[in-house]
Amino acid sequence: MRIGFLQYSPAYLDVAANLESIIPLLQEKKYDLMVLPELFASGYHFRSREDVAAVVEEAGEGPITGALREWAKSTGATFVGGFAERAGGAFYNSAFLAAPDGSTGLYRKTHLFYREKEYFTPGDLGFPVFECRTRAGAPYRLGMMVCFDWYFPEAARTLALGGADLIAHPSNLVRKDCPRSMPIRALENHVYTITANRTGSEQAHGETLTFIGQSLICDPAGAVLAAAGPDETAVLVVDVDPA
Ligand code: ACM
Repeated sequence: MRIGFLQYSPAYLDVAANLESIIPLLQEKKYDLMVLPELFASGYHFRSREDVAAVVEEAGEGPITGALREWAKSTGATFVGGFAERAGGAFYNSAFLAAPDGSTGLYRKTHLFYREKEYFTPGDLGFPVFECRTRAGAPYRLGMMVCFDWYFPEAARTLALGGADLIAHPSNLVRKDCPRSMPIRALENHVYTITANRTGSEQAHGETLTFIGQSLICDPAGAVLAAAGPDETAVLVVDVDPA
């Protein structure tokens, strides 16, 4: 099967323009599974709760998760991407899975990073694993974790013990040590990992966060199969065999 990631720099809070801008990038290649960054259509370094409130949506119901569902249907590929979720009165930093048959999956980030704690509630769904299929109909099991979850080995371990063959890892990385750690997460758990990071920088609270790019795909032996540079916009795709 062909798996890949999109790396790019979204414009802060401009959901419609971000969705529009990545459509041609997603059409460049054919794949079975595409992973997009954490909060891929909204930006990350929120300036206020009002800004978060302007982009939250219920899973599967708003423009961002709606676009993932639509792209899955129109391309025949499965998509995973991060979005700001509203559920009841709470906001979660979540990842949404959209499959071409219309089925969906949801994960809520467990380990919130830094100022995320001011806006988001820690995830309460555990680490679910989803049954998926390639275009050719081959089954595989897909787990999700979001960015800083990588820092806690138990996240990837829990997904692997739950039966995951692949871990989709939407990210907005700022720490430089993640690209060194993901081959280890893949090796110690014998899974493929797909880390989709963003590029660019954002300012809030008098502080600039710079995102490190360097998205990467690792195999169960810990080899790096694909890696993007620190600043480039890229869609990279590789062939793998989870079976
Ligand atoms: C992060 O968890 N977005 C650093």
